[in-house]
Amino acid sequence: MNVVHDAKILIVDDQEANLHLLTALLASGGYHHVQVTTQPREALTLFAEVQPDLVLLDYRMPDLDGIQVLGQLRRAAAAGSFLPIVMVTGEGSEDVKSGALSAGASDFLTKPFGRTEVLLRLRNLLDTRLLSLRQQQQNEELEQRVRERTFELEESRYEILTRLARAAEYRDDATGQHANRVGALAARIARQLGHAEEDVELLRRAALLHDVGKIGIADEILLKPGRFTPEEFERMKEHTTIGAELLSGSRSAVLQLAEVVARTHHERWDGGGYGHALRGEEIPLSGRIVAVADVFDALTAARPYKTAWTVEAAIREIGAQRGRQFDPQVVDAFLVTMSGTATAQVESVKPQAESQAESQAESQAESQAESQGESLQERPVPHALLRLIDDLGAENEGLRQLHPVSPIVPLTLPAREHALAS
Ligand SMILES: [Fe+2]
Repeated sequence: MNVVHDAKILIVDDQEANLHLLTALLASGGYHHVQVTTQPREALTLFAEVQPDLVLLDYRMPDLDGIQVLGQLRRAAAAGSFLPIVMVTGEGSEDVKSGALSAGASDFLTKPFGRTEVLLRLRNLLDTRLLSLRQQQQNEELEQRVRERTFELEESRYEILTRLARAAEYRDDATGQHANRVGALAARIARQLGHAEEDVELLRRAALLHDVGKIGIADEILLKPGRFTPEEFERMKEHTTIGAELLSGSRSAVLQLAEVVARTHHERWDGGGYGHALRGEEIPLSGRIVAVADVFDALTAARPYKTAWTVEAAIREIGAQRGRQFDPQVVDAFLVTMSGTATAQVESVKPQAESQAESQAESQAESQAESQGESLQERPVPHALLRLIDDLGAENEGLRQLHPVSPIVPLTLPAREHALAS
C-alpha cells in the first residue's frame, strides 16, 4: 500500500444489506479494493488470501460471532505492523465495547452510520497502517544492511586470520594449504561428532592458526633438514606456547578457540604429548580434534624431506593410534568421515594441482612397491615416522606390532622430528 486509497479492505457481515451499504460508502470515499463475505467461518481463509489493510467486522453474527472471528484474525495477523480491525455494532453498550477492545478491536462503528464520521475514522486508521508499514520496511532494510555489514566484517576478519596463518607457515609451506586442509578436516570431524554448524565453522577458522607460533621459531630450527638436537626439539615445541600467547586476551570467540587449539594440538590422549602433558579429557576437545587432522594431513602431504603417505596408509595409522596418541571418539568420527570414499573426500580438501601431483607420486610409489612384490599392507613405515615416534618415546613397541615387517633402523635419510606434528 503506497497511499491509503490503495488499501485492501475486508468486510465480514452476515447481512447482505450491510455489505452493500458499507461497500457503497467506501466507494464514495475512493476505496475500491473491497472484499466481502457473509460467512464468518470463511473470514479466516479470505483474510489469508486478501491480506487486507483494514477489516470491518460485524459484532453480532450467527454461528461464529464477531469477537470469535476477531480472535482468529488477530492470531493469524503478521506481527510487526499495525492492522486495524474495526468492530461494527448495532448497540453501543459499554460491555460490548469492552469485550471487543479486549479481543483486539482497533475502533468501533455504531449503526446507523454517519458517512463523514466513518470515512474520517477509517482514513485515520489507514494513515496509521501506512506509517506502520513504512516503518516496518525501513526496519527490514536497516536490518538487511546490518546483516550485510556484519557479513563483510566477518569475512574481512576471516581473511586476516587466513593470511596470518599463511604468514606463520610461509617459511616451511609456501602454499599455505596445510592450515586450510587441517581446518577443513577438523570441521568435518567436529560435524561427525554432532557439533552445531556454528561451532563447526568456528573450529574450522580457529584451526587455521594452530601453528601460528612457528613465527617465533628460528629459521635454523624450523628449516633444518636434518635431525634436531634435544635442545632444538625443545625450542620447536615452544611453538605451541608462543602461538597461545600471540592469540591470548582476545574477546573474539574464534581467537579464544584458536588460542586453545594452538596450545593443545600436540597433546596426546595417553599423556605423552607436549604443551602441558595433559592426558585424556584434560585436553580440550578442539585440541584433540585438530591433533588428528594435523597428523593426517602431515602424513599425506609430500614434503622436501619425505614422500606423501597414501590416504589409506595414513587412515590406518590414525586408527592404530586410537586411545594412544588420539582420543578414541575423535578417531571413530574421523574413520566414519573417511569411510567409503576416503580418497575422494581427502582430495576435496586439497587444491587440485597439489592433489594431482600427490596422486601421481602416490601411484608411482605404489607401482614401484607392487613391482617389488610388496602389498600396500606390508609396505615398510617411512623413516620419517620412525624418527618421530622414536624421539617422542613410548611408541616403538606399538609401531613394531603395527608394522612387524618394518625394521627400526638407524636413520640415514634427512628427516625432521616434527614431520607428523606440523
Ligand atoms: Fe604444530
